[in-house]
Amino acid sequence: MYKRSQMAALKTDIFHGDCLDVLKKFPDGKFDLVFTSPPYADRRKHTYGGVKPEEYVEWFLPRAAEFRRVLKSSGSFVLNIKEKVEDGERHTFVLELILALRKQGWLWTEEYIWHKKNCHPGKWPNRFRDAWERCLHFTREKHFKMNQEAVMVPMGDWKEKRLRSLGTNDIVRFQSRVGSGFGKNIANWKDRERAYPSNVLHLATECGNKDHSAAFPKSLPEWFIKLFTDAGDWVLDPFVGSGTTCVAAQELGRNSIGIDIKREFSELAENEVESATMALMERATKTNGYHKKNKR
Ligand SMILES: C[S@@+](CC[C@H](N)C(=O)[O-])C[C@H]1O[C@@H](n2cnc3c(N)ncnc32)[C@H](O)[C@@H]1O
Repeated sequence: MYKRSQMAALKTDIFHGDCLDVLKKFPDGKFDLVFTSPPYADRRKHTYGGVKPEEYVEWFLPRAAEFRRVLKSSGSFVLNIKEKVEDGERHTFVLELILALRKQGWLWTEEYIWHKKNCHPGKWPNRFRDAWERCLHFTREKHFKMNQEAVMVPMGDWKEKRLRSLGTNDIVRFQSRVGSGFGKNIANWKDRERAYPSNVLHLATECGNKDHSAAFPKSLPEWFIKLFTDAGDWVLDPFVGSGTTCVAAQELGRNSIGIDIKREFSELAENEVESATMALMERATKTNGYHKKNKR
């Protein structure tokens, strides 16, 4: 929890317009993290206009070039996206986009999976319910800001079960069998309470009663904001929708900019940010009052 004065210094601004145009206002290297979920190809055409899967890469690239320009060289770009099914087959536009982004100069550093813990049950003739989405992590450089300690998880059950039966390979550090050059020493984790997480995030969808059909849960941007930024850094969501990324950024003490092409969504995002600001102010006032009382 931060103080009212720290909060007042934070900036959260929502813009209405095409991110391609709006971003022209911003200088090179302003942002530490671009975190976003773009309009998916052809999805929700009636809500906010879909881009045809065949035209998706061509549509996305000029915008990605702007994201790259406004991102610091130590920054990260995380793209939450999932390819649709067309004619009984997964479309390949996301795979094509990854290749095209690499050609644009991005490094495809990692792919995180958001496992939707509470996806809807259903029955399809040729597949099972879709319970995950990609969070593609791109960077400008091999070395980038990454606060791994900020997202450590309790060791939990794994510690109890795995460490009870340590084998020779676990005790002596050994080179990875796949020759990656990395070794492991599981015994090192014996006395630790927290471990580094995996690249699979198990988060429930939670759209509450927000008036946006494609909002992601706040816990999704939160995790990446903690991992790739420090307090006071700048976060950008160029397809901000209901403002989830900006609310998460603000609650974590980061500055942020959100952009949406639909007026109703930029206004919704502004309202969400305003409500979150009020709630934070109230909490800060209560906490400060509590500290003053206890100092006396
Ligand atoms: C998948 S939704 C984002 C939802 C958001 N993550 C949330 O939690 O509410 C994508 C958003 O991108 C907006 N959008 C589509 N094209 C855009 C563009 N060219 N520039 C800015 N926003 C755009 C849509 O109006 C939509 O609100």
